[in-house]
Amino acid sequence: MAMSSSIDDIQQAFRAACAGVQTTADLQAVRDRFLSRKHGLVTALVKSVAERAPDERRTFGAAANALKQEIERTLDARAVELSADAPVAGAVDVTLPGRVPAAGRRHPITQVQEKIERIFRGMGYQVVCGPELEDDWHNFEALNMPAEHPARDMQDTLYLASPVAAPGGGKPATLLRTHTSGMQIRYMQANPPPVRIIAPGRVYRRDDFDATHTPMFTQVEGLVVAEGISLGDLKGTLQAFADQFFDAQVAIRFRPSFFPYTEPSAELDVQCQGCRGAGCGLCKHTGWLEVLGCGMVHPAVFEAVGYDPEKYTGFAFGMGIERMALRLYGIDDIRMFYENDLRFLEQVPR
Ligand code: DAH
Repeated sequence: MAMSSSIDDIQQAFRAACAGVQTTADLQAVRDRFLSRKHGLVTALVKSVAERAPDERRTFGAAANALKQEIERTLDARAVELSADAPVAGAVDVTLPGRVPAAGRRHPITQVQEKIERIFRGMGYQVVCGPELEDDWHNFEALNMPAEHPARDMQDTLYLASPVAAPGGGKPATLLRTHTSGMQIRYMQANPPPVRIIAPGRVYRRDDFDATHTPMFTQVEGLVVAEGISLGDLKGTLQAFADQFFDAQVAIRFRPSFFPYTEPSAELDVQCQGCRGAGCGLCKHTGWLEVLGCGMVHPAVFEAVGYDPEKYTGFAFGMGIERMALRLYGIDDIRMFYENDLRFLEQVPR
């Protein structure tokens, strides 16, 4: 009787103690109370087996050991439960506020290109693209620059070590196009007049990498051909373009220039938007910024593509997108566009 009650007492006391366990420290206290070697209740119980009358020892011992094992199992199981509740290092804390992923943005040069395309689309132009690997004929010859023509020196050409098949067939490509003007030729070869296109794309030159030059840059070519196209059409078109591009009524001026594929040829300047013509560092105190080359299509170009120069006239223009972006944002170093410094790129308005 005494034997079973002490086992029952300990069992009940253990269950009551277990119910109050909330932390691993609580659990350790229970473990000590029942299983500690020196004064654990179960330890004492097991030791007392030897004091029992010989005929009781076997059953008492078995019952005491069964209780001890039950208590050990229960404590171990509870320990596992408690450790599962505890926050694990490196686990996801779902209560933290979320992190907003950084959104990308289009590169300023892409944005300016799209702005230029938008403006010309609005004036009824078609946007066309062509190969960056080009043959000599499209890049030079058909543009009235035969071999040995001194105007070829205006552009330092990057030639391919060995010619490759041209995209879409035709003559093998021998160079990286130095300008988008070859697209005038490609388009006119493939389409009869009238023509009203722009052709944006990358161009390459053997240039240094400095504040005003990069070996690769981006141009937009423009070409309009029909019967009766005049210099007045060119001037009106570029004035309309400049006003929309700079979002203002901008003063423009044409300076006589030379390009083999246009006659007459001109360069277009816009009034410096930084100082409104007063003169500043950006415009080198001239009040004007050079933006593009243009002119009336040379009859030799029409002949090269099989257009009748007696019947058709046209104008062409070519601008550097990087330069337009410098003008638009009032920046004076083209390298900023290619250094991928997010502190710069994120300042450019979307
Ligand atoms: N191709 C010239 C350049 O790369 C730009 C240019 C000038 C294009 C006059 C034209 C033009 O179409 O008429 O600098």
